[in-house]
Amino acid sequence: MLRKAILPAAGLGTRFLPVTKASPKEMLPIVDKPLIQYSVEECERCGIREFIIITGKNKRAIEDHFDQFSELDEVLKQKGLSNLIEEIHRHDQSDFAYIRQSRPLGLGHAILCAKAFVKDEPFAVLLGDDIIDPEDTLLMEMIEIYKKYRSPVIALQEVPDDEVSKYGIIDGETVTDFGPHNIPKQLYKINALVEKPKKEDAPSNLAVIGRYILTSDIFEALEAIKPGKGGEYQLTDALNLLLSSRVVYGYLFKGNRYDAGDKFGFLKATIELSLKRPEFSENLKNYLKSLTAGL
Ligand code: UTP
Repeated sequence: MLRKAILPAAGLGTRFLPVTKASPKEMLPIVDKPLIQYSVEECERCGIREFIIITGKNKRAIEDHFDQFSELDEVLKQKGLSNLIEEIHRHDQSDFAYIRQSRPLGLGHAILCAKAFVKDEPFAVLLGDDIIDPEDTLLMEMIEIYKKYRSPVIALQEVPDDEVSKYGIIDGETVTDFGPHNIPKQLYKINALVEKPKKEDAPSNLAVIGRYILTSDIFEALEAIKPGKGGEYQLTDALNLLLSSRVVYGYLFKGNRYDAGDKFGFLKATIELSLKRPEFSENLKNYLKSLTAGL
């Protein structure tokens, strides 16, 4: 059973300055929900209810967001806004723990900060920048693969050649013995990972995206690595180390993902996810048509 998720949220968000100077990137809203809430809800849809959020400087708003706020409850009650009361209490059945990463030393270091809370259990890691279309079941499918193989599973997406240098890229081979599951072309056995390679050095165009199912032996690997690319402790390096002792799978995702940590990606996510909201869909479509008619 997979019960825990780590949500690393201690990054500096430099791609989104100036707003991220004093406000957490994870609290940027797609319409009315902060980015990190999309990850929390994705986990809750899979039955994960224990969250370990790695925070840092200027990230207090994340804790407030998932905390109780009795004065607000009172005001909403007086105004008869029961739907909003329900909305702000939708995570009451989940537990949230916060660990402060004292310095942003990298994603690998951020995950290692949660070691004492995860103990021996397998766990999910979700990077809130990567918004997966809420209609997709990627995480659920990754959990199914984990249950079958009891090995770490990393989400992958095909990226254009000129974007490989922004991602961790895998060298892997397709798994063909996928038994009764009918998705063999989407599962890979990973041979190696390269962090942000140059186009000419990339072993494939299969990029690691922000969804992982990991096992507790990753912590030993994270403790063993030295700072890598960019002087940061890279999860990619720890995964490479883990590959010498166990199989790690990659699962190719073909649905919609938005890189909301990038300004243009964030705009796309805002428009596309708003178009899926029944209360805005029609008006927004008409508005976009009217804007583009003159172009
Ligand atoms: P990113 O590489 O996207 O870094 O981190 P970032 O700082 O958030 O954003 P940019 O690139 O400077 O704009 C990937 C994930 O790892 C977390 C981030 O919060 C994000 O969820 N992270 C990164 C940490 O928690 N700690 C770190 O030291 C680095």
